[in-house]
Amino acid sequence: MGDSSNSNLEYWVRLQDDEGYFDNHPIYHGAREFSLNDYGGDDAGQALAAFGALAPGKKVAVIGCGYGRETLQFAGEVAHVWGIDVSAKLLARTQSFLASRGIDNFSPVLASEYDERLPHDLDVVFSVVVMQHLTRDLVRDYFRTLRKHLVDGGVFVVQFLEELYDGVDQRDAELRVYEPSISWTLAQLAQLSIDTGLRFREVRTQMLGPRTLWHWVHFAKEAGSA
Ligand SMILES: C[S@@+](CC[C@H](N)C(=O)[O-])C[C@H]1O[C@@H](n2cnc3c(N)ncnc32)[C@H](O)[C@@H]1O
Repeated sequence: MGDSSNSNLEYWVRLQDDEGYFDNHPIYHGAREFSLNDYGGDDAGQALAAFGALAPGKKVAVIGCGYGRETLQFAGEVAHVWGIDVSAKLLARTQSFLASRGIDNFSPVLASEYDERLPHDLDVVFSVVVMQHLTRDLVRDYFRTLRKHLVDGGVFVVQFLEELYDGVDQRDAELRVYEPSISWTLAQLAQLSIDTGLRFREVRTQMLGPRTLWHWVHFAKEAGSA
């Protein structure tokens, strides 16, 4: 990993451990009392269902699981969920939040250890509201590495952001000080699938605002590919 990816990771550890990211964030402030009233919804469950990725036997890894908001939506419909995030302190909180909601099939995984800790028979890699906060190198690294943990036919269902302004495709995480925001164009997503050896099945796009697109990527590991 390059220097900017390492500093991006360290930056997120500080945001979580020293600055109470979820407690103080204007959108996530509901996490303070572990209440999902303010920001619950079913975005993750809907996205996974839309791509046919939910079933009782499935094993799912979540990149950037946060305090468990999205895991809560679908953990009851799959066999097991491994939640990857940057801070042990946050992950302990995530686990107790999910346990308090009756979820007993969740395993926390530190981002620095995910390659060693995750099994090699995952069916799904899921992520929402995370890729826009990582450097492009980190994103490629996650796709390349987690592809090796998928079974043949396993899929990525991952959300990317595209903000519509000139030069957006040139920018990388370090250019924004707080909560880096990285855009991925459709062409860049196609290149990501090529670079990481995944079959580009589909990208579904929603328009969140006049200048903001929300891309849901559906990539697959083909049977027999190395
Ligand atoms: C905006 S929050 C979204 C959390 C959660 N997905 C949700 O939608 O509620 C971004 C999350 O990504 C995590 N994160 C940042 N860098 C990461 C990395 N390199 N690997 C895994 N998670 C990371 C942050 O700690 C944070 O929990």
